[in-house]
Amino acid sequence: MDLFEYQARDMFEKHGVPVLPGIVATTPGEARAAYESLGGAVAVVKAQVKIGGRGKAGGVKLARSADEAEQHAEAILGMDIKGHTVHKVMIAAGADIATEYYFSVLLDRSERRYLAMCSVEGGMEIEQLAVERPEALARVAVDPIEGIDEAKANEIVAAANFSAEDAPKVAEAIQKLWTVYREEDATLVEVNPLVKTGSGDIVALDGKVSLDENASFRHEDHEALVDKAAEDPLEAKAKAKGLNYVKLDGAVGIIGNGAGLVMSTLDVVAYAGEQYGVGPANFLDIGGGASAEVMANGLDVILGDEQVRSVFVNVFGGITACDEVANGIVQALGILGDQATKPLVVRLDGNNVEEGRAILAEANHPLVTLVDTMDGAAAKAAELAAAK
Ligand SMILES: Nc1ncnc2c1ncn2[C@@H]1O[C@H](COP(=O)(O)OP(=O)(O)OP(=O)(O)O)[C@@H](O)[C@H]1O
Ligand SMILES: [Mg+2]
Repeated sequence: MDLFEYQARDMFEKHGVPVLPGIVATTPGEARAAYESLGGAVAVVKAQVKIGGRGKAGGVKLARSADEAEQHAEAILGMDIKGHTVHKVMIAAGADIATEYYFSVLLDRSERRYLAMCSVEGGMEIEQLAVERPEALARVAVDPIEGIDEAKANEIVAAANFSAEDAPKVAEAIQKLWTVYREEDATLVEVNPLVKTGSGDIVALDGKVSLDENASFRHEDHEALVDKAAEDPLEAKAKAKGLNYVKLDGAVGIIGNGAGLVMSTLDVVAYAGEQYGVGPANFLDIGGGASAEVMANGLDVILGDEQVRSVFVNVFGGITACDEVANGIVQALGILGDQATKPLVVRLDGNNVEEGRAILAEANHPLVTLVDTMDGAAAKAAELAAAK
């Protein structure tokens, strides 16, 4: 999960990273009030969108009066920045910038460790710097167990060629940023620019933080950081029910047990649907133990998708045998009652397959078609989706 800048700012502050005051506003009036409560000096009105290049897009503007703060907020709110609509601005205290630096620490999956990057040439697009003058961007590997202690922070600032005057302060800020990374279970903490002010202080003027959602169970407070307005309603519903669901664009809803099986089901449905111009509507892995309740929850989410015109239930009986899954499907249809309105193509294979098929045949539900093979079932589901 990526955070907005103002959320990253608050998180930085909590862990002792030097930041400037900043207040979020959703209307020009609120922006005016925020400007005034900052003390009426120079402030910056900043678009809050989860994308870089806000400055260049006109989403970062200096305000020297309450009127200017209000006018800038008026112009920036509702602005489209690379496909992201601005719903909030942050009114930040203006910094007296002497120099702009860069720092980030991120998860380096291929090397199975973390990577810290640092440069005395911050502010500009760091991707461009990395390509044009890679020597100006120090890259220092960080051991996940050891993290960034004082010695590591010193190594990073030395590699980036900071002056003797700046080095200790930057090293201190880097250690604080590491605390954010470790204690919040982040996969990215980036500050561009990390600035030196006229009085020689080091301050994080921008912040980009990505949190590892696999660790959300140990951060109850992270739930409040979720941007509910941007969430797909079906994905939110699935998440609330603990389902592993991803919304796609097609017309064939898909339920399977096991991520690998579901991925290959998407492939066969995309292939079978090509001639009709239909494709998979979602990814949904109900995992092992496909109880009636989980099956009902999964079907409920998929049937709530207006784009869905047929559903392919693809199950391989393993630890949870086919007869249990078949019972789950029958009971799920019972639970859903009139809400189940779209044709279901079911393919069962694996443990206790004969018993499973017998249960579905016996139930003889008008919406259910049983097909023995995965390709055959995909073809049937695609045909039904195209026909409706
Ligand atoms: N609080 C502030 N006080 C003074 N100047 C600021 C402040 N915040 C940002 N700026 C200036 O605006 C520039 C862009 O801001 P920021 O880095 O937050 O946005 P961005 O989305 O990363 O923009 P870009 O990618 O165009 O640099 C900064 O490099 C800095 O020069
Ligand atoms: Mg920036």
